[in-house]
Amino acid sequence: MVNEKYLFRYLIDKLYRDNYLREDEIVFLLENVKLYGNDYLIQKADETRRRVYGDRVFMRGLIEISNYCKRQCRYCGISALNPKVHRYRLTKEEILASCDKGYGLGFRTFVLQGGEDSQFTDDLLTDLIYEIKERYPDAAVTLSLGERSFQSYRKLLGAGVDRYLLRHETASRELYESIHINSSYDARLEALRNLKRLGYQVGAGFMVGIPKQTKADLAQDLLFLKELDPEMVGLGPFIPHRATIYRDEEPGSLEDTLTMLALTRLFLPYALLPSTTALASIDENGRELGLKAGANVVMPNLSPVHIRDDYSLYDGKVSSGYEAGEHRKSLEKRICQAGYKVDMSKGDHIRWKNN
Ligand code: 5AD
Repeated sequence: MVNEKYLFRYLIDKLYRDNYLREDEIVFLLENVKLYGNDYLIQKADETRRRVYGDRVFMRGLIEISNYCKRQCRYCGISALNPKVHRYRLTKEEILASCDKGYGLGFRTFVLQGGEDSQFTDDLLTDLIYEIKERYPDAAVTLSLGERSFQSYRKLLGAGVDRYLLRHETASRELYESIHINSSYDARLEALRNLKRLGYQVGAGFMVGIPKQTKADLAQDLLFLKELDPEMVGLGPFIPHRATIYRDEEPGSLEDTLTMLALTRLFLPYALLPSTTALASIDENGRELGLKAGANVVMPNLSPVHIRDDYSLYDGKVSSGYEAGEHRKSLEKRICQAGYKVDMSKGDHIRWKNN
């Protein structure tokens, strides 16, 4: 009989070496990580990130441009299913003012994120992007505006967008369809493939601890990412929102999220991996622990302060203190204390070779 503790360690070493494991091997790790702990896994993930990106932590300024959304994601606080949200949409001037503030603070990536808001037409967005690129030619623009058509993604790329974030949420078709109303798993994957095909730096990603999510589902997330090979991966714990059907569910745990972050780093050594706001929201040291588990990106909030609380995807989302762009220096201090250093450069993926 094989010694399971030995096998556990052997699989981590194998993953460290090959950046790949089969589904049954991943499931074995996930089933035993409570018993044997995730310290060694996290150590190997940190070694990998240091080998590839050193001790640098890239900063992105996040601007939440609209909380209008036509989609019906059952877990999300700003979904169209929630009539109670105070909806807002930033004007072009407000978005530019946020970029301006961010640029002054040293940010060289602006992430424009929002719900699927049909008012943000291709024309409006291209006009906005031209303006941002003209004002800040040395900054990258990342969009995170959900599913759009191939033509739309092409136009936006043509206007100068560098990157696009579109989490796959879960690689399990069944789970995907059970947590989204009127959504197609195939359309999601098609959108991600279109972004890749067009030449964006692409971010995929998933939530950890979705109600009914299994270890095999999480293994599928890693295998899906390995195949897609995105430049960025956003992953964080599922956190219930009071206005959703999941209000009484347990959030994803810190330990499980850190384990999945470390595994993602080992599967995709070159990925830009944020230590997410959701992780910082479930634990006061979540941000730092994420960095130590292989994350190398932090995305402080640059949105106008008066709308921050309206962009409420889940309960207890931190929107002040270290999460806020204007407190960049205190965030920097915490990053340094954790053993890393802040890199304010554009921070492209290594394949883009501008690092
Ligand atoms: N808990 C955790 N993450 C959530 N998101 C949306 N709702 C929640 C929630 N309740 C995440 C989704 C989405 C991203 C913008 O926020 O993964 O892609």
